[in-house]
Amino acid sequence: MAIFVTGGAGFIGSEFVRAWVRRFPAETVINFDKLTYAGNLENLAPVANEPGYRMYRGDICDAGAVREALPERCDAVVHFAAESHVDRSILSASEFVRTNVLGTQVLLDVAREKGVKRFLYISTDEVGGSIPPGRLFREDSPPAPSSPYAASKTAGEHLVRAAAHTFGIDALITRTSNNYGPYQFPEKLIPLAISNARLDQPIPVYGDGLQVRDWIHVADNCRAVAAVLQRGRPGATYHIGGGNQTPNRELLGLLLNIMGKPESLLVSVTDRLGHDRRYAVEGSLIRSELGWEPEIPLEDGLRATVQWYDANREWLEHARSGEYRQYYDRMYGRDLKGAGGDRA
Ligand code: NAD
Ligand code: TYD
Repeated sequence: MAIFVTGGAGFIGSEFVRAWVRRFPAETVINFDKLTYAGNLENLAPVANEPGYRMYRGDICDAGAVREALPERCDAVVHFAAESHVDRSILSASEFVRTNVLGTQVLLDVAREKGVKRFLYISTDEVGGSIPPGRLFREDSPPAPSSPYAASKTAGEHLVRAAAHTFGIDALITRTSNNYGPYQFPEKLIPLAISNARLDQPIPVYGDGLQVRDWIHVADNCRAVAAVLQRGRPGATYHIGGGNQTPNRELLGLLLNIMGKPESLLVSVTDRLGHDRRYAVEGSLIRSELGWEPEIPLEDGLRATVQWYDANREWLEHARSGEYRQYYDRMYGRDLKGAGGDRA
């Protein structure tokens, strides 16, 4: 078997690649990644020398590069590559449209040309928009994205469904909730909070901090993605939820408690524009059809994640890039400086 993974140098893609290569050492995994600010080859160091693993640096919007890297009759494309951070999409959406929309169409076209057997698009619960309390986003609910990021991921989904309908491609979609775990770039809430707390720096809490997210450990998500890839029903969309709907302040309180740090590090800052209050997926389909369940309880997963960042300080230092700092300062620096620091 040969699989072609896009975005395999990012947070979730690299977990998927590491786990797949360890599980199926005799198979070929081609990792196609542009290595944007979010792509980090250190994430792949544990498998870089495995015989079945190959890295190809390229842009999914570049049909020529994809054509060159994608083998004929490849078993599957697993499409993780995306611009993935909501705050960045608010500052500028064009790269999100380019990669998440145009890039997805280029991949679909080349996959069809090359006779790829199965196409798996990694989407997000954010395509459902903010879900009112007491309601759940179901696989057959209409998408209602509200951030530029979520809108671009929804457009990608539509193109995948259109290709399946029009050309009979075997295409599937997973919509996962908020992932956390090792190797996550420290612009996202949990690694940002861990790295700031360790330095006794303030942790920015957007608005009232009562926004609800359903946290899932990245290893649980990648087991679900593997199950969908291997056994999913052609054309199906599967929700992958962690079953851990938690308001941000409560989550951060738990994290600070694990780290032995005071809650006074939490500092309220201006809310994210258009901030979705609540994501909540209905996720029974993947349980009943594929027998997948999340295995890592939130507190255990957070504890292990804190330990991982402790043991991998060098990774964290390398990930704290200048680009990140600039964008961060532009967006939230004033609030944080007022609170005594602006370190990200
Ligand atoms: P990430 O930002 O950590 O990684 C994205 C990867 O894609 C990087 O390696 C980057 O270099 C690569 N990439 C970006 N543009 C590219 C391009 N034009 N061509 C080739 N490669 C490119 O993202 P992540 O958090 O690992 O998310 C992976 C996927 O899962 C995304 O599709 C995202 O929408 C989805 N998702 C993420 C979460 C989450 O909590 N992180 C939740 C739901 C869904
Ligand atoms: P994030 O990790 O950016 O994921 P997403 O926006 O895709 O859900 O943010 C998770 C939640 O945490 C979201 O409600 C925004 C909030 N948040 C903060 O309060 N402070 C922060 O510094 C960040 C990055 C996020």
